[in-house]
Amino acid sequence: MSDTPRETPESRVTRRRYIAGAGAVATVAVAGCSDDPEVGDDDGTGDGTGDGTGDGGEADEGDLEIVHWWTAGGEEDAYNALLDGFREQHPDVEIVDNPAPGGAGSAIDTVIQNRVLDGNPPSTFQIWPGQALTPYTDADLLEDIGESVWDDEMREAYLDDIVDLSRPDGDLVAVPINIHRLNNLFYNVEVLDSADVDATDIDDPQGLVDALEAVAENTDAVPMAHQTQSPWSTLQLFEAVFLGQQGTDDYLSFVDGNVESLEDEVREALGLLAEYADHYPEDAGSISWDQGNDELIEGNAAFLHQGDWAAGQYEAAGDFEFGEDWDMVPFPGTDGVYHSVIDSFVFPTNNPSPEATEQFLNYAGTVDAQERFNPTKGSIPPRTDVPDDAFGPFLSRQIDDFDNSNTQPPTIAHGTAVAPAVQSEMEEAFANFNDNLDVDTAYAALRDAF
Ligand code: BGC
Repeated sequence: MSDTPRETPESRVTRRRYIAGAGAVATVAVAGCSDDPEVGDDDGTGDGTGDGTGDGGEADEGDLEIVHWWTAGGEEDAYNALLDGFREQHPDVEIVDNPAPGGAGSAIDTVIQNRVLDGNPPSTFQIWPGQALTPYTDADLLEDIGESVWDDEMREAYLDDIVDLSRPDGDLVAVPINIHRLNNLFYNVEVLDSADVDATDIDDPQGLVDALEAVAENTDAVPMAHQTQSPWSTLQLFEAVFLGQQGTDDYLSFVDGNVESLEDEVREALGLLAEYADHYPEDAGSISWDQGNDELIEGNAAFLHQGDWAAGQYEAAGDFEFGEDWDMVPFPGTDGVYHSVIDSFVFPTNNPSPEATEQFLNYAGTVDAQERFNPTKGSIPPRTDVPDDAFGPFLSRQIDDFDNSNTQPPTIAHGTAVAPAVQSEMEEAFANFNDNLDVDTAYAALRDAF
């Protein structure tokens, strides 16, 4: 194992400026949440110590109760690898694993908001840093861990913009553990070969329609393994299309709420999404993201736009090799963009296990934790000194892409860019759009979301 640092923090600061600079909308309201958590094919029971509802039924005082939504694909393996590392260092801590399954946290909001507001929080929970933290920081429900967890060594090692995302109101309240990329277009190599489609030739989001049509004409495969059971995947696809068509500056203007001045651009993206919808699976409305991805793995689907947690699932599938069986291009039109999704853990006030929570957060911020978690998760570490060689060829390429990216905009569907209340409104807009593909109604809802 090499101990070569990936890059110095200083050299990457400028590349990360967009994350910190965007999405300045704040709110004091605790956000609503999606009514229709996406139900996957996993049972969400983790290691069996929790009751799988995220409601804290099984935890005793002093136990480390962790609520998260990593139960699909390679997510659970990555989470278990993290816990294994923690257990090696803290064998005495009793861990109560309490997942609230549902892609992109579609089920976790309600559970966590109720528990935290009731003064009955778990020890820690998974949450996106940035805007997603603001309802909790506005209500003073997260401890400042700037002294207890974020020592000088950790601050030095982390990318500066990621540190900034962890302190939306000045105090450091979160420990980020990964960086996912969202603007990926994954594909099954054999299916594209049969369709005579070369993914690297697709220049822009409109060009993807031609590729989808070629798959439909030349193969029996579903062109795009998209799920519409829960609206977040269509919201993130809208983000990708908009970024691919208009570029990062307009996208950042959109997330700042300037929707009316971008009316034509927003309508153009929605119109294209309606064309893509012809190519979704027949059962798109009842599958989870990982069930869609299973079809790509099986050779029954061609393309998938998804965060690189999908690559964690390919790894977990075994015998489905990067380059040979699957590959990925940046979503058409988004070369040079690293559309970032970040997960973190926090220290809620009124904590049932202050000592164990501090130990866990300290651990999550270490090289060891991030070296165990990220290669399996399909993400790259926010620390700059995690050795490269734990990462296979796909993630090594992602690391290069990140290091060479021009912009790293925040995401709406995964909480960094806009306040949770705005995100909820947009999810609602896309839940309706998934049903009726009505551009006028969706445009009005996006405009009114801010
Ligand atoms: C999280 C990822 C997770 C994905 C699918 C995202 O919001 O950041 O860690 O794998 O949702 O559930």
